Amino acid sequence: MSPRGRFITLEGGEGAGKSTQIGLLQAFLRGQGREVVTSREPGGSPGAEMIRKLLVEGPADAWDGPTEALLMFAARRDHLVRTVWPAIERGAWVISDRFADSTRAYQGHGHGLPLDRIELLYTVAVGNFAPDLTLILDLPVDIGLARAAARRGAETRFEGLGPGFHERVRSGFRAIAAAEPKRCALIDASGDVDTVHRAIVRVARERLELA
Ligand code: TMP
Repeated sequence: MSPRGRFITLEGGEGAGKSTQIGLLQAFLRGQGREVVTSREPGGSPGAEMIRKLLVEGPADAWDGPTEALLMFAARRDHLVRTVWPAIERGAWVISDRFADSTRAYQGHGHGLPLDRIELLYTVAVGNFAPDLTLILDLPVDIGLARAAARRGAETRFEGLGPGFHERVRSGFRAIAAAEPKRCALIDASGDVDTVHRAIVRVARERLELA
């Protein structure tokens, strides 16, 4: 039987550079001879991608906080069942662009949904599974929103929530990193692409016992 794979999540606010960094991390891990699967949330499986459309398109007030969190966790469970768990089981390493810390930061810190309720939903949808490593890309909100606006198509729902919301999201992510230092690492995402990649590789080497 192949050894269990790993689950790595990248988190952060809008325009933090997650997709670029995921591509580079994937190439680095493949260079180490591993099967690497990249995925994203909300989404990452056919059913979850359908739910994603409901979540990221349309007006900012389309859903209230609890409904949004339920939809996120419905998508998350499908993503785990169909994509993440089977891949890890066969020994692959999975890198996901966002996971449950985004619900804690956006629906919890951003929308004010109580964090203990989010943990209840986590228990129902995810159980006691958790990422092996979470990289939280940290960037000033104005820089991130400007970057995100430059490339976005129809997926503007969350950007429409205003800078105050996104400041709460950013401090939410920083609080998560501080509260769970074993699982999480806060990465300064304000540098250039190579600098951020080197910081990520350094953390991955330390935490995941890589060469
Ligand atoms: P993306 O732009 O990184 O693909 O993410 C889509 C949006 O969904 C982004 O604005 C963050 C938001 N989101 C949440 O609010 N809660 C969640 O649990 C997840 C996974 C994403």
